[in-house]
Amino acid sequence: MKSQHKCIVIFALVCCCALLIALIFSAVDVWGDDEDGITVDKCSRTCRVVLVENIPEDLSIPYKDTVSLTAGLHELLDKARRSVEIVSPWWALNSTTSGSNLPQAKQGKILLHQLKSLRSRSVSLRVASGLTDSNWTNSELEALTRSGADVHYLNMTALSRGQLSSSFWLVDRKHMYIGSAGMDWRSLSTMKEFGIIIHDCSCLVLDLHRIFSLYWQLQYKDFLPSIWSKRLYALYNGDEALQLRLDDTEAEAYISSSPDVFCPKDRVKDIEAIKSVIQEAKTFIYISIPDYLPMLNRSKPKYWSLIDSMLREALILKGKLDVRVLISCGDETEPLTRNFLWSLRALCVESLRCSLEAKFFVPRERSDGRLSRISRSRFMVTDSSVYLGNLNWLGNELAFSAGVGVVIRQRLSENITVVERVKAVFERDWHSHYTKTLDPHQIPVCSTHTVKDNTSA
Ligand SMILES: *[C@@H]1O[C@H](CO)[C@@H](O)[C@H](O)[C@H]1NC(C)=O
Ligand SMILES: *[C@@H]1O[C@H](CO)[C@@H](O)[C@H](O)[C@H]1NC(C)=O
Ligand SMILES: *[C@@H]1O[C@H](CO)[C@@H](O)[C@H](O)[C@H]1NC(C)=O
Ligand SMILES: *[C@@H]1O[C@H](CO)[C@@H](O)[C@H](O)[C@H]1NC(C)=O
Ligand SMILES: *[C@@H]1O[C@H](CO)[C@@H](O)[C@H](O)[C@H]1NC(C)=O
Repeated sequence: MKSQHKCIVIFALVCCCALLIALIFSAVDVWGDDEDGITVDKCSRTCRVVLVENIPEDLSIPYKDTVSLTAGLHELLDKARRSVEIVSPWWALNSTTSGSNLPQAKQGKILLHQLKSLRSRSVSLRVASGLTDSNWTNSELEALTRSGADVHYLNMTALSRGQLSSSFWLVDRKHMYIGSAGMDWRSLSTMKEFGIIIHDCSCLVLDLHRIFSLYWQLQYKDFLPSIWSKRLYALYNGDEALQLRLDDTEAEAYISSSPDVFCPKDRVKDIEAIKSVIQEAKTFIYISIPDYLPMLNRSKPKYWSLIDSMLREALILKGKLDVRVLISCGDETEPLTRNFLWSLRALCVESLRCSLEAKFFVPRERSDGRLSRISRSRFMVTDSSVYLGNLNWLGNELAFSAGVGVVIRQRLSENITVVERVKAVFERDWHSHYTKTLDPHQIPVCSTHTVKDNTSA
């Protein structure tokens, strides 16, 4: 009888231990791949920045201390020795539309070919991608898989009811790219895109890699884990930003992420990053974005006030603040965009001394008469910071879609800063022939002044 009791007690103890061990491992994680010997204490923070742009050939806009996106991405691929990791909203490098034989489609095919040949250089390629509607795969990703790439698919509909809009690269855990361009031949030809490449910056890349690892884990899952591994926690945030040197100038940087449910402990959400950049601005805020629509549109449309109220507060309370918004217009632009921008503008009466100006980047007229956007640039620059993110400023995207952003803060220095360089890019576009001032009386805003298209982009 006594020994039977003993047995039950021991059995219970063993069960408890097993449960404890299981709990510990689920939190600490055992799946991990090592981080190539790069650790938070042993990483590089003396980095080089390359601002990359794609400027369509038919626009006469000069590069401004920037290099072409194609050249920037090829430089990254040439440097790769061990690994290339890519997240892109969609894959369309090998154009299969009627435009496939256009000279503009060539760069996409070359890039795809380069990615396929990574294997022959013993460089691994890992890709995280969203599902395209009902299809689990995409023919291009299948081709990459056949040439040795590892592809993980995320069902964003199930995870957050949004899209995977993230667009970034990690190379050898040392170099990174974040920008508006995805793996789409149009991003390398007919669209205007803007991004940033940072070389030799393993400290910052380590943190961005944690977001990649988070996506990697979510393959085929239809729910989020209730507890994230510690190895996915953010390393830096707004209060404890990474101190680094960018091109020989002091800077602070951190990475933000969206949606909220994809943000483990300490990770700054994109909306918080946008808020702090707006709040820290003293004299100007310049925003270049395809859409500005503070609305959520799910079962029924709702006002989504977060960014709109931050801008209102800044305009009213800061005094002598100059806000410029450059949006990109096309047939898909929601007409209410104009009303929202106009209402912001109306706040700045003379006594407040603030100013809000809005312009739109002219669309391209396609052969079927429809107007499509040219610019997909997504960034904000102020007197002290740059925020460059993947998401459009629409309630639906910021609330539900996956994206990443990078914030760089720099004080004025004897050397030219990244913040000043991004400002120069904004000012070049703002004053170019391809922008028009927003007119409250003209509906739709982008009906006149277009760039003619003789391709079928
Ligand atoms: C690219 O498209 C062409 C024709 O559209 C096709 O022959 C070729 O196999 C495709 N390449 C890849 C890598 O998918
Ligand atoms: C997946 O896409 C291919 C073309 O890309 C199409 O032929 C096929 O029918 C699609 N499959 C499903 C289940 O929709
Ligand atoms: C993605 O998730 C949604 C919602 O859970 C589900 O209806 C859909 O079938 C899933 N897609 C695939 C390809 O499994
Ligand atoms: C400016 O750049 C030079 C070299 O390019 C560097 O030695 C110097 O420290 C920089 N100045 C500041 C204030 O960072
Ligand atoms: C909201 O979505 C519905 C359909 O999904 C669409 O008809 C409507 O134009 C959208 N409204 C806004 C303001 O985006």
